[in-house]
Amino acid sequence: MLPVNFPSAFCALVWYSLSTSVGCKGLEKYRIKGGVRLSGAVDISGAKNAVVAILPAVILSDEPCRIENIPHISDVSTSLKILEKLGAKVEHIDPHTVEIDPRTVDKIEVDHDLAKSMRASYYFIGALLGKTGSARVPMPGGCWFGERPIDLHLKGFHALGAESVQLEDGIIEMHAEQLLGNSVYLDTVSVGATVNIMLASVRVRGMTVIENAAKEPHIVDLANFLNTMGADIRGAGTDVIKIRGVQQLYGATYSIIPDQIEAGTYMAMAAATGGDVLVRNVIPKHLESITTKLDEMGARIEEMDDAIRVRCEGPLHCCNIKTMPHPGFPTDMQPQIAVLLSIADGTSTITEGVWENRFRYTEELQKMGAQVEVDGNRATFNGIEKLTAATVKAVDLRAGAAMVIAGLVADGVTEIEDIRYIERGYEDIIEKLSRLGAKVERVSD
Ligand code: UD1
Repeated sequence: MLPVNFPSAFCALVWYSLSTSVGCKGLEKYRIKGGVRLSGAVDISGAKNAVVAILPAVILSDEPCRIENIPHISDVSTSLKILEKLGAKVEHIDPHTVEIDPRTVDKIEVDHDLAKSMRASYYFIGALLGKTGSARVPMPGGCWFGERPIDLHLKGFHALGAESVQLEDGIIEMHAEQLLGNSVYLDTVSVGATVNIMLASVRVRGMTVIENAAKEPHIVDLANFLNTMGADIRGAGTDVIKIRGVQQLYGATYSIIPDQIEAGTYMAMAAATGGDVLVRNVIPKHLESITTKLDEMGARIEEMDDAIRVRCEGPLHCCNIKTMPHPGFPTDMQPQIAVLLSIADGTSTITEGVWENRFRYTEELQKMGAQVEVDGNRATFNGIEKLTAATVKAVDLRAGAAMVIAGLVADGVTEIEDIRYIERGYEDIIEKLSRLGAKVERVSD
């Protein structure tokens, strides 16, 4: 077994000195010996989907901002690199705090390779457009769940008065002589379009109204951050968001909310392994759809002010799940919960209500013995007693987290390849799991 628990001071030093080099080389993998009941406490990091919106939002400020509770994940280091390449000054105060001075931003073009390595790079379109009236950003990369169009983002920008041109290499160029507030109705509830329209409109003359807006916790977190800087945004967390443009935004210190999906993943791990885990630093309200389903499956859930204890003694029960925009069951918890359904008593179904193709991971689960059939946007699981260890791939970020759960409950030693996806969104997953008693290590070929 390789040493997996780096002392935290060493991690901090690496973070300080390299500042942006989170991530792993292609040949590294996780090795997990299954069968251990997880027990103890785990601290949840700052929310990935909030921080990837808030870091670009700093561009809109006229003064430096300090962002706290940022998770140490590769999507954050990519966002910070993009900011630096645009001309911002980024200073690492401690492993989870950065200070960003956007006054030196003097470019409007986002680096091609960085943009391609994460989905949320498209938030730089809204932020740059809202600040300078122009942006040039390559079509983003990120996890593949079928088509991921950005027509609604463009619809919003156009409503504000911007024009867009698609250049070679999939680069989108946006420009506006003058942006003006307007009403935008989103035909589909879209997190990304809601964020991007908020970013583009916050400093624009007049009132912008987003109807059928997304209500995810990270939408509220972004609105709170912008309001702390002096913006006038009301209704975030409901399906109508009103943004009255302001002329100036000031510096702010802001702490990112805890990650709903990381918390849900550790809760699922506790239930899957028949463990007893206190998941700390969470907002229980954000986790209600997940706790309801875990409860239905037989786990015992105890909610505290900022922690949730998950225990599970008996077998898991089957249940049916449909993913939906918040406050429905999150699509980003779909692969993780599927592992539990693979070993639950009886037959369960998952209906995917957000993405057209989010079941690619089921082929990996089948390698471990799972009995799952996919038909369109529905997967049916016939629960078996035990999964069997195998070599599997993380086909995307949350699919990778599901493979970790599968490895934790399987008989034997599971190896997970392509872990760079997992490290886009889970801070110190090996260290956190080791502290809960799991037999996990990160190895290089
Ligand atoms: C965000 C999350 C992602 C999560 C997803 C749904 C971030 C960085 N990522 O992704 O982890 O899985 O929300 O909760 O926060 N759509 C359109 N046109 C558009 C935009 C979206 O038709 O212009 C459709 C998509 O194809 C999808 C649905 O709307 O079917 C929801 O997508 P959206 O909420 O935009 O997802 P993202 O913001 O990309």
